Amino acid sequence: MKSADLAVASCEQLLTCRGPIPKRKEALAEVGLLKKGCIASYKGKIVFIGDEKEFCREVQLEKNSLCLEGKGLVGLPGFVDSHTHLPFAGTREEEFVLRLKGYTYQQLSEKGLGIQTTVKATRAASKKELLSFCLSRLDRMLILGTTTVEAKSGYGLSLEDEIKQLEVLKELRNLHPVDVIPTFMGAHEVPPEYKERRSDYIELLVKKILPRVREKNLAEFFDIFCEKGVFSLEETRKLVQAAKKAALKIKIHADEFVSLGGAQLAAEEGATSAEHLINISDEGIKKLARSSTAAVLLPGVSFFLMLEKKAPARRLIDEGAVVALATDFNPGSSMTENMLFVLQLGVFTLKMSIEEAINAATANAAYAVDRHQETGSLEVGKKMDLILCEAPNYPTLVYRLGINPIKHVIKNGKLVVKDGKIVRGNS
Ligand code: NIG
Ligand code: FE
Repeated sequence: MKSADLAVASCEQLLTCRGPIPKRKEALAEVGLLKKGCIASYKGKIVFIGDEKEFCREVQLEKNSLCLEGKGLVGLPGFVDSHTHLPFAGTREEEFVLRLKGYTYQQLSEKGLGIQTTVKATRAASKKELLSFCLSRLDRMLILGTTTVEAKSGYGLSLEDEIKQLEVLKELRNLHPVDVIPTFMGAHEVPPEYKERRSDYIELLVKKILPRVREKNLAEFFDIFCEKGVFSLEETRKLVQAAKKAALKIKIHADEFVSLGGAQLAAEEGATSAEHLINISDEGIKKLARSSTAAVLLPGVSFFLMLEKKAPARRLIDEGAVVALATDFNPGSSMTENMLFVLQLGVFTLKMSIEEAINAATANAAYAVDRHQETGSLEVGKKMDLILCEAPNYPTLVYRLGINPIKHVIKNGKLVVKDGKIVRGNS
């Protein structure tokens, strides 16, 4: 018998998304479905997953444990949002209106708007303000089923302000149940005061900010916007190598607007992930497919920027790349914390199957942040990070648009969202 302190009995369908992880090609469509599935955990870790009969035979519920009835519910792993720009201040609806009048995202950036607007607001914000913005965003994410989130700095672009963003991320660890994985993205843009002397900014990043981030142990990943007019391929290589020396793992915003070759570089440098990839070349697809670097697709961006062009998800999957989906939550190009919406966009706009999109938002997403050993799938020994949706079957999660079907969320074996509302003091 296995002792448990939390159990969910008889879900209509339980999607385990079980490994091997990462999932490539046909394996990306395997969601590990259990009908009338039961799951139990002890002290935050999954100890049992199986059918009703095995559940009765093998699981011993401790006194005062919580047992939820899964009738009418579909269960799946908590979403892992592997790409967000969480700690920002200010919003950009005025620029959104300009875009609706015909300005492109890049034209706004050339006018000194775009990322610069958010840099100004974020520099002006206190740590306390940033912290409170992040907390309410994490609340929204949790209600929408995200239990692990990657979060990037990159709106500070100075020693002080990058550290401020990263320190906010560190504080969140003790304040919120969602697991926050910090990424240093001082190379998000060259700040205006360095526009005429960009090599000085690169030097500042390498010689001052990176060592400080490392010394204070404030980030697990390094990310860079490798893009025409932002950081060139050569600059990206230099910075990536410096970050690797500082023992950070690598992510690259690659081939978003222009095909510069960021995807190939990511594969060559052994990056954990390459992100965006709307304009990835044939060679980039081939190289990524043969590498261990995840391809993190962000369909919210093509949607939000109303771009005709989409990331070639089908080709990436069919060639064998590890495809994940994420929100890219940020105020300029994807103002949404909603992973289910992104999953739906994966199906509706990238031609992924429902099963592929689910795995891309859970198991492969965990791989894209190097957390697949502990979350992203429902397997014995992993964290009990589970969402329970009001739906008769899992295709309904994609078919039924514009509602939040998530009724309960369990994080680390604790019920943190009950009937769609955050349970306070339970983390
Ligand atoms: O991932 N592409 C670069 N950075 C963000 C957008 C940041 C912004 O517009 O504020 C992105 O899309
Ligand atoms: Fe981004």
